[in-house]
Amino acid sequence: MRSNAPGAWWKKTTIYQIYPRSYADSNGDGVGDIPGIIDKLDYLGWLGVETLWLSPFFASPQADFGYDITNHVAIDPLFGTIDDVRRLIREVHARGMRIVFDLVLNHTSNRHPWFVESRKSTENEKRSHYIWRPGRGRGGDKPPNNWRSMLGGSGWHRDEETGEWYWASFFPFQPDLNYRNPEVKRAMLAVVQYWLDEGVDGFRLDIFNALFKDRGFEDNPFSFRPIPSEENPHGFFQRYRHTIDHPDTFAFARELRALLDAAEPPERFMVGEVFGDLETLRRYVGESNDGLHLVFLFKTLRLSFDAKGVRHAIRDIERVFDEPRAPTWVYGNHDRPRLMDRFAGEVSKAKLFATLALTVRAVPFIYYGEEIGMRTVDIPKAQAFDPIAARYGFVPETLKRMLKKHGVLLNRDECRLPMQWDESQNAGFSPAGAKPWLAPHPESAASNVEAQRGDPSSLLHCYRSLLRLRRSQAALQTGSLSLYEETRFPKEVVVYRRKDAGSDRPAVHVLLHFGDRPVPVKLPRDETSRPRRLWSTHETGTVEAPDQRVLAPHEGVILFDPVDLPAEP
Ligand code: GLC
Repeated sequence: MRSNAPGAWWKKTTIYQIYPRSYADSNGDGVGDIPGIIDKLDYLGWLGVETLWLSPFFASPQADFGYDITNHVAIDPLFGTIDDVRRLIREVHARGMRIVFDLVLNHTSNRHPWFVESRKSTENEKRSHYIWRPGRGRGGDKPPNNWRSMLGGSGWHRDEETGEWYWASFFPFQPDLNYRNPEVKRAMLAVVQYWLDEGVDGFRLDIFNALFKDRGFEDNPFSFRPIPSEENPHGFFQRYRHTIDHPDTFAFARELRALLDAAEPPERFMVGEVFGDLETLRRYVGESNDGLHLVFLFKTLRLSFDAKGVRHAIRDIERVFDEPRAPTWVYGNHDRPRLMDRFAGEVSKAKLFATLALTVRAVPFIYYGEEIGMRTVDIPKAQAFDPIAARYGFVPETLKRMLKKHGVLLNRDECRLPMQWDESQNAGFSPAGAKPWLAPHPESAASNVEAQRGDPSSLLHCYRSLLRLRRSQAALQTGSLSLYEETRFPKEVVVYRRKDAGSDRPAVHVLLHFGDRPVPVKLPRDETSRPRRLWSTHETGTVEAPDQRVLAPHEGVILFDPVDLPAEP
C-alpha cells in the first residue's frame, strides 16, 4: 500500500497540538482564533515542528469546547471563517508544514439539526441517525441495559418527547451517531472527503474506539475495576465489552484508510484516540497495516522520570509496534495534566524527556506550551468552565489534586491556559485591555516564548535544536532502534542506537541519564570509527576521552555523524 512506504512523511514527522481557544486571540474577544494561529506560524516554523494538529473549531454550542459539533463542515464564528481556515491551510503548506484537523465522528451536539429532528418522534426520518431504545421496567423508566458511559453512570438518557432512551458514550449532550445506519456513515464519510478536498493532510480521530456498539444490546459484564485508565479503559465496575473496540470499528478503520489512500494528492494520514493495552491498540492499525496510520500510545502520558520505566516502555512499544508500524510518543494533551507538572518545574528533567521524545523511534506529539514548560494551575471548581469539573463536582479538592498527580485531570481548564507569549498583562495571548477566557498562568511573566527565545540555555532552545537534529538525521526519523542491555551502562542511564537501514552512515547513539549524580560512562562505539559530534542537553561539553564521558545529572547526549549537521542559524 503506497502510504505505508518506509519513508512516508507521517512516519517521520513531528506533531504540535494547538488548542485554538487558548493559542492566540487576534480580535480581543478573549478566545483564541484562526487568524491568531496564522500570526504564529512563523514562530512554529522557527521552532521547527513539522505538522500541526488543531483541536475542533467547527460550529458548536461549546458545551464541551468544540467536541460537541452542530455542523462538521462549518467554522464556528468564535474562531473565524472558512476563508480564514483556507488561508491557514495555504500558509501552513507555504512554510513546508502540514496540518491535521480533529474529527469527532462518534457523536454530535444534542443541538445538531439531526438530533433536534431525531428526538421529535419515533417515526422521524432522522430517528435512526442516533441510537434509541425503549426502556426496561414498567413504563420503560429504566435504561435499556446496564451500559455505562466513559464518564461512569449510565450512558442512556431518557428523552421526554417519546419516552425512549438515547445512547451517549460521553456527556448526555453528545449523543452517539448510529453508524449502522448507512445514511449516517455516508454523511460522515462525506465530511472526511470535504476536508480532504480542502487540502488537510490528515485527521486526529476523537474517541474512535467507541464508534460501533454491539447490536445485541446485551448487558456488559461485571468487572472489579473501579477507575478506568488510558491503558485499561474498563472501569466503573464494568467490562465495556459491547460498547468499545467492536469488530465493526476495526473494519471501519480500514474503510477510512481506503478513503484516505484514494485522496489526491495522496499521503494523508489519521491518528486515532483509542485506549487499551498495546495489543488492542495495534488492532486499530491492522495486522496488514491497512487501518489507522497511527494511534496514541498513552502509556507515555504517565511515564515517570525513571530509567527503568523508560526502558520498559521502549521495550514494550518496540515489541508491539515493530516495523513497519510507527509508534507515537505523547506527554500531554488538552485533557491531561501537563508534562512539567510531573517535574515540579525542574527544567533539566523536561529537557531530558524532550530528548527522549525526539530521538526515540516514534512520532512525537508536543502539546502547545510544552516547549516552554508550561504548567497547569489549580482552579477551584466554582470557577471551572469544563463540564468534567461539574460532572465530578462531588470530588473534594484534596482528592482532585491527588488524582492530578496521577495523571487524571478533573478540571481540564487547568491544562488549557492561554499560551504564554510574553511578559505583558495577558501574556501576549489577548491584546491589552481584553479579558482572556482563562487567566494566564501566574508564572507567565517569567516563563514565556519571548524570554526563552532570548536564552540559548532555555527549554525552548532545547526543543528547537532537537527538532533540527531530528530533521537532519535520517536515522532519527526512520532508523531502527536497539536498546542496549542495562548491564552495559550504569543502571540510571538509558542508551539506544538508531540506525538507518538504507544508508552506510554510522548509527546515532542516545544516552539519557536519569540519575541525580554525575556518572562516568564509556561511550558506545560504532562499527566505523568516523569522528562523531556530540549534542547535549547541557552546555556543549567536550568528550573527556575519545570514548569516555562523565554524564551530568539529567544529561542527555546524542552522538552522531557530522556529515549532515545543519549550520547553526
Ligand atoms: C476526547 C477529547 C475530549 C472530549 C471527548 C468527547 O476524549 O479529547 O476533550 O471531551 O473526547 O468528545
